[in-house]
Amino acid sequence: MALPKRVLIREVGPRDGLQNESTWLDTSEKQRWIELLTAARLPYIEVTSFVHPKWVPALKDAKELAQSLHKKGDITYAALIPNEKGLAHFFEANLDTGAMFISSSETHNKKNMNQSIQETLPVIKQMTADLKAAGKHTRAYISTVFGCPYEHQVPMDQVLRLTEMLLSYGIDEISLGDTIGEAHPLQVERRLDILLERFPADKIALHFHDTKGMGLANIYTALKAGITIFDASSGGLGGCPYAPGSSGNVATEDVVHMLQKLGIDTNINFPALIKAAEWIETKVDRTLPSHCLRAFHSHTTS
Ligand code: HMG
Ligand code: MG
Repeated sequence: MALPKRVLIREVGPRDGLQNESTWLDTSEKQRWIELLTAARLPYIEVTSFVHPKWVPALKDAKELAQSLHKKGDITYAALIPNEKGLAHFFEANLDTGAMFISSSETHNKKNMNQSIQETLPVIKQMTADLKAAGKHTRAYISTVFGCPYEHQVPMDQVLRLTEMLLSYGIDEISLGDTIGEAHPLQVERRLDILLERFPADKIALHFHDTKGMGLANIYTALKAGITIFDASSGGLGGCPYAPGSSGNVATEDVVHMLQKLGIDTNINFPALIKAAEWIETKVDRTLPSHCLRAFHSHTTS
């Protein structure tokens, strides 16, 4: 299939990136990073997570942060929500998109959410109805689609069953997560062949962690299959605290750079994107995995 002309990037750095981070960032620092990401014209920014603060201490200031953002009208600000309690906080914070989550493997769902898949589904169904009644956009992640740290391969039937179920609730977009970065192009091609026979491509996003350096190759494969929505994280920060082995998401700068070279429009300001990644790198005080950030540093220091 021909490559698409336009792609949407979902920036998940402030949520997926920081949830696994041992360095504490103050609310004002998180706010500044989100301002820089906003300046880069990222169309969607997942700013935080209304999960239990004991489960993810790095994001325990979710409500204050969400309420203190300098939002721009044409940008979608989203947050992760696990349950009705998180949803109440989301509504108080008045963000645009509620991102729910479930795992395709029973063990990861239990470790991540302290409940079974069967228990999580009705919670998501009810939250979707509440979000839609309030005029909010809805997104749901399905984790471990390409490999689970506990159960290894997840049967394709299970991924299809969950995708179908979530779409039947009226969720606007499903993001399929390669939680621990196990996916490879052949697997992506095979799984998408089956998925896209049943579901429209514009309902499906892909969320690649880059543990084994396969992120860009997987995105290229998915572009050729017709996918036009990809999650990525500024600087390549990221990981799930309840999935051992999970490292950062594919870096937003690297994805945007590849898309630009392929002639695919994202409407993102690349220099501003580098500035945002550079800023977060100094805050977490270690070298981040982003290739474009490395190239930028060697260019500016040579
Ligand atoms: P639980 O302990 O089973 O919760 O946690 P509970 O319902 O039994 O309630 C226990 C107490 O927690 C109660 O308080 C609740 O009110 C409170 P008490 O009555 O004892 O005083 N509580 C809450 N407080 C604040 N916010 C809430 C909340 N919910 C209950 N939302 C829970 C269940 C789901 C909350 C917990 O397991 C949790 O927070 N898990 C989140 C784990 C997480 O954030 N993981 C990372 C995100 S997922 C990911 O990274 C994957 C993704 O990137 C895609 C991919 O890569 O594949 C999305
Ligand atoms: Mg993730």
